[in-house]
Amino acid sequence: MESKKVFITGGNRGIGKGIVEGFLSNGNEVLASCRDASKFPLENDRLTVAELDIADAKSIDNFKNIVESFGPEILVNNAGITKDNIFLRMSDDEWLDVIDTNLTGTFRVTKLVAKGMLKQKWGRIINISSISGMMGNPGQANYSASKSGIDGFTRSLAKELGSRNITVNSVAPGFIATDMTDNLANEELTKKIPLGRIGNVEDVVSLVLFLSSEDANYITGQTLVVDGGLFMK
Ligand code: NAI
Repeated sequence: MESKKVFITGGNRGIGKGIVEGFLSNGNEVLASCRDASKFPLENDRLTVAELDIADAKSIDNFKNIVESFGPEILVNNAGITKDNIFLRMSDDEWLDVIDTNLTGTFRVTKLVAKGMLKQKWGRIINISSISGMMGNPGQANYSASKSGIDGFTRSLAKELGSRNITVNSVAPGFIATDMTDNLANEELTKKIPLGRIGNVEDVVSLVLFLSSEDANYITGQTLVVDGGLFMK
C-alpha cells in the first residue's frame, strides 16, 4: 500500500489505537486525535497526536488548522461513547451526550476533512458504527440511534462524494474486547456468536485497512459487519 495521510479520532485506546498501529505499520503518516495528548500511549516518527473533543464545537473549530495543514486522504471516525440505560429511565443528557458525540461528532469531523478530499479528488472515509444500530439492543436506544444514524449519514455522503473518487463506508463491529465492553463479555454471549469468540481489535483493524486500500476502490455506501456472525440479516 502506497503511504497515505490518515486521520483517526479517539486513537488512544481500544479499536482506535489498533487502527493507528495498523496504519503506522503499513508505512502511513498518521494524525491521531484524543482528549488528553499527554497520555497518548504510542510514539512514532510518522505519528502526530493532537487534542480534540468531538462533542465540543469549539474544540472542532480549534482543530481546523491542524487538519488542513495535515491534509488527510483517509479519515476514520472512530471515537464514540455509550451511556446505557433502559428507555424509561434514560435522561435527556444520556440521550444527547451519545447523539452529540457519536453522530454529530462524526458529522463535524467529516466536514473538517471533506473539502480537502474534494480538492484532491481522492479520499476514503470510514465511520465506525455498530451492529447495535442494525439489530437494536435493550438499554441502548441512544447508542443504537446514533449508530444507525451514522449508517444513513454514510449512504448519503457516499452519493454526494462518489463522483470525486471519495468512498464512504461504515464498519459495524459486534462484540470486540475493549474497555467499552469490559463488563459485558460473558459465556452466554459467546455462545450466541457462530464463530464462538468475542472479537479482537485486529479483526476490526484488518477491515478498516482493506476499505482504505486500492483493493476496495469500488465499494462505497456500505455498512460492513465484523461480528463473528452474531447478527445476520
Ligand atoms: P473505547 O471506549 O475503548 O474507546 C473510545 C475512544 O473514543 C477513546 O479513545 C475515547 O477517548 C474516544 N472518545 C470518546 N468520546 C470522545 C470525545 N467526545 N471526543 C474525542 N474522543 C472521544 O471504545 P472502543 O471499543 O475502542 O470503541 C471504538 C469505536 O468502536 C466506538 O465508536 C464504538 O462505538 C465502536 N464499537 C465498539 C464495539 C466494541 O465491542 N468494543 C462494538 C461496536 C462498535
